[in-house]
Amino acid sequence: MSDPTPPDWTRGISISEISDGGMLARQVAGAAVLVARRGNELFAVSSTCTHYGGPLAEGLMVGDTVRCPWHHACFSLRTGEALRAPALNPVSCWRVEQRDGKAFVREKAALTPSKTSASQLKTIVIVGGGGAGNAAAEMLRREGFGGGITLFSADDSAPCDRPNLSKGYLAGTAAKDSIPLRSPDFYRDHRIDLRLKTRIAAIDPAGRRVRLEDGSFHSYDALLLATGAEPVRLDLPGSTLPHVYYLRTASDARALVAKAQSSKRAVVIGASFIGLEVAASLRARELAVEVVAPDAVPMEKTLGKEAGAFIRKLHEQHGVTFHLGTHAASIDARAVTLQDGKRLDADLVVVGIGVRPAIALAEQAGLAVDRGVMVNEYLETSVPGIFAAGDIARWPDAHTGERVRIEHWVVAERQGQTAARNMLGQRMRFDSAPFFWTDQYDFTLAYVGHAERWDKAELDGQLEGDKRDCTITYRRGGQRLAVASVYRDQASLRAEVEIEAALPVR
Ligand SMILES: Cc1cc2nc3c(=O)[nH]c(=O)nc-3n(C[C@H](O)[C@H](O)[C@H](O)COP(=O)(O)OP(=O)(O)OC[C@H]3O[C@@H](n4cnc5c(N)ncnc54)[C@H](O)[C@@H]3O)c2cc1C
Ligand code: FES
Repeated sequence: MSDPTPPDWTRGISISEISDGGMLARQVAGAAVLVARRGNELFAVSSTCTHYGGPLAEGLMVGDTVRCPWHHACFSLRTGEALRAPALNPVSCWRVEQRDGKAFVREKAALTPSKTSASQLKTIVIVGGGGAGNAAAEMLRREGFGGGITLFSADDSAPCDRPNLSKGYLAGTAAKDSIPLRSPDFYRDHRIDLRLKTRIAAIDPAGRRVRLEDGSFHSYDALLLATGAEPVRLDLPGSTLPHVYYLRTASDARALVAKAQSSKRAVVIGASFIGLEVAASLRARELAVEVVAPDAVPMEKTLGKEAGAFIRKLHEQHGVTFHLGTHAASIDARAVTLQDGKRLDADLVVVGIGVRPAIALAEQAGLAVDRGVMVNEYLETSVPGIFAAGDIARWPDAHTGERVRIEHWVVAERQGQTAARNMLGQRMRFDSAPFFWTDQYDFTLAYVGHAERWDKAELDGQLEGDKRDCTITYRRGGQRLAVASVYRDQASLRAEVEIEAALPVR
């Protein structure tokens, strides 16, 4: 319950009320301010995360940083800087005065002066206007890069909040203007030359230039490849009919929303995260929804049997019908026909059967490729000066020693940020623990780490019922690889810190 007369930091609060490592959120002249204590130091920053507004006081203080409980963004308590995505904007800071055992929050601190990069590069080209490409372009400017940045995107819309396309945007609960990550003014003000609807046809590593589809060339001193992934297309009779939809881009989402508004019955093919989020969002629009998938248990490969069975039940409680262990055989204007001949009426079909990394450019350019673009721990490809980030990158995972390619939003953004710094000459390893989340109805699951295979999944707490509150820990050979959590934000943050701290010493 919130305090009806919350104390005002300007009147002072006894320092003893804040434990070492503790955080308290209170008001300062109408603003919610978080005061955090580290030893004898006190920091004051805005208590609301700049990503989706998560309450930072419920997050975790790690050194002189704070991590958000919702999607694990990380902010500097000293400067307010958004150190790790998904937050891209800093939080405000205030000056704290300590007097007579009390802490007083005074005036807002001035913004941290801009950095200047010593990089000699003149032109950086980024191919891909998704999470990784956008975060890289922003980070180059934050790091003080003064040269030219050109961001090429085959999309017809500016970089967008892709995770929201299958959630709030499709359900109709998110504001339309929350979809673009930035306004057109942002790119202009930061001198980021965003070229939409511009597909790069080839890379010429020897000449350090890219060739556009119109045949023109654009030179670079360093290049980031962030071409993401493309939905796997269904190949069966009727699969190209106009009421069959895929969801990757903002324009896919706009088209799907328009169709959903005039549809009554949807069949979702694929019980992946995207398929299931689409099912939940279409239920929010009151369409009848049936899900068809070859799996026996949805999400079993990622979350295990128990969590998968729970997710199935959750959807069934919301009126979704599953057809599992089967495939669609054909689609016509009115129905999807399954292998056993059963017909499922549908005026809308959404296909979510996975994605493939968009590696054609990398292959053409002669970069080392193996089910993704091979990069080292600094996200540099086999060709010096060309980096790769996001859904296409396969990197040596510092936690397991295995090479991994992971399709998560936060990973893509953080890799974009790390690659940007490394293009400017910093030698920064990419070693943050992977993180993703999913929202389906009133259910939110966060997942930190990466477990492609595990021999033990330990459930602690309750997944079912009114009081959902649990963690599932995935282990292999005794090593903790990943932790899924439901309404246990602190446990998820602690697991992230511990997984990162358990890195082998190099
Ligand atoms: C609907 C949906 C919901 C999702 N929800 C979640 C979630 O809840 N949590 C989570 O962790 N992850 C989620 N993901 C996954 C996440 O969005 C991706 O991992 C992330 O977008 C990858 O970022 P990226 O920059 O590598 O690629 P993308 O975001 O796909 O961007 C790739 C860009 O490259 C451009 N491009 C490709 N080829 C060329 C070329 N030749 N020339 C020029 N431009 C090119 C494309 O136009 C695009 O702009 C979701 C994905 C989708 C589609
Ligand atoms: S709300 Fe803070 S990271 Fe998303």
